Amino acid sequence: MNNPLYQFFTNDHRRIEKILEKAIADINNIKDEYYQEFRAGLLTHIKMEEKILFLEAQKANNNTPLPLAGELRLEHGAITSLMVPSPTADLIKVLKYVLEAHDLKEEKEGGMYEACESLTTNQTEELLEQLKNVTLTPIHPHNDAPIALEAAKRALLRAGFDYDKIVAEN
Ligand SMILES: [Fe+2]
Ligand SMILES: [Fe+2]
Repeated sequence: MNNPLYQFFTNDHRRIEKILEKAIADINNIKDEYYQEFRAGLLTHIKMEEKILFLEAQKANNNTPLPLAGELRLEHGAITSLMVPSPTADLIKVLKYVLEAHDLKEEKEGGMYEACESLTTNQTEELLEQLKNVTLTPIHPHNDAPIALEAAKRALLRAGFDYDKIVAEN
């Protein structure tokens, strides 16, 4: 199947997951160097989706947002807010749970990547070129004030995920 954009983004999911796995190999001693690499990779990935792939697909769709665009954007907001506090075992549990659900909506048959790819078939090369030239999103130091975690929990609720429930049930 000729689907280079699908391949590009799916490979990036797997690449980012591997960095996270290295960071949390010992959950009681999360390796900061890998975790910061993971954060930068994930935030850059979200930027590539929001600013390039999803945006160009929407333009090609008569400027009408694709059906999954709204919920994926809420999830991007939630995932981004989970990058703010320092990681804990609970936060990682929630993050992995949300990422798994999110990536599936993008990767599945009939999902977001497939929809975006078919809308942009006449500009695949141009998009791949833009994606290759994206600069790494700068990351800020963690904020461990309680308000940061509370903000993440609220962003998760808006996206349909209950942080405390996920922690308790998984
Ligand atoms: Fe995404
Ligand atoms: Fe993605």
